[in-house]
Amino acid sequence: MSFVYKRRHQLFGRRKGRSLSANMKRLIDEELPCRLIPIFTSAISVTDPSIWFPKKPNAVWLEIGFGGGEHLAWQVQNNPSVALIGCEPFMNGVASLLRYLSKMEGDRVRIYPDDARNILDLLPNQCLERIFILHSDPWPKRRHHYRRIIQHKTINQLYDVLKPGGILRMSTDEPEYAIWILARITAHINFRWTGNSIADFIKTRKDWPETRYEAKGRKEERVPTYIEFCKPVEAN
Ligand SMILES: C[S@@+](CC[C@H](N)C(=O)[O-])C[C@H]1O[C@@H](n2cnc3c(N)ncnc32)[C@H](O)[C@@H]1O
Repeated sequence: MSFVYKRRHQLFGRRKGRSLSANMKRLIDEELPCRLIPIFTSAISVTDPSIWFPKKPNAVWLEIGFGGGEHLAWQVQNNPSVALIGCEPFMNGVASLLRYLSKMEGDRVRIYPDDARNILDLLPNQCLERIFILHSDPWPKRRHHYRRIIQHKTINQLYDVLKPGGILRMSTDEPEYAIWILARITAHINFRWTGNSIADFIKTRKDWPETRYEAKGRKEERVPTYIEFCKPVEAN
């Protein structure tokens, strides 16, 4: 089966920022090819993403828009039986994640340096235990709302690729975008909120480290909203 990427509106701002240092360039040239998910190099039909890793992990997690990769690297380091797929089109961010990974043992990360929607189109149902979409671009102007990654369609796809009992974590420090996200996820009849009280929307958790974007927002006194939903264990 060959995989044809759909032509669609670009959701992300830029692919490159400051010019990469010699070490970052080396990481992109030498390390990235070993970490690319296989569909990037050869078109295959995906039955189970856990086969992308040399040692079958207990679970596969996905992070969409990992930015500088701090959160993804933390999760890999603190969850030794888990493998992660990271999607990020911003090459400086990809180089930053590769730098973290180069200091770690093991081969439990695969990278897709492009639009995560291509991966969501390709993954089979019920193949992931966790998905993170942290501080996705809020695109505040109304005419740009179609660029937001969180749409009804994406929520449906995220639900489908999660295993029963799987967790979807999202965050934003833009109050209007928080409402947008909540409106879309609660419109899905099966996703369930994991919280107990409204305070859970602003409560930090030990296993949810701050991202670079979040830290910057806090300095500017923006308060993050943490949104966690799960696919019911009894779902099919
Ligand atoms: C505001 S930044 C947040 C980065 C990081 N999660 C953090 O909290 O520091 C949003 C990131 O999502 C990435 N992004 C935007 N659209 C994307 C898409 N369709 N697929 C994958 N990544 C995307 C951008 O390149 C950017 O790095």
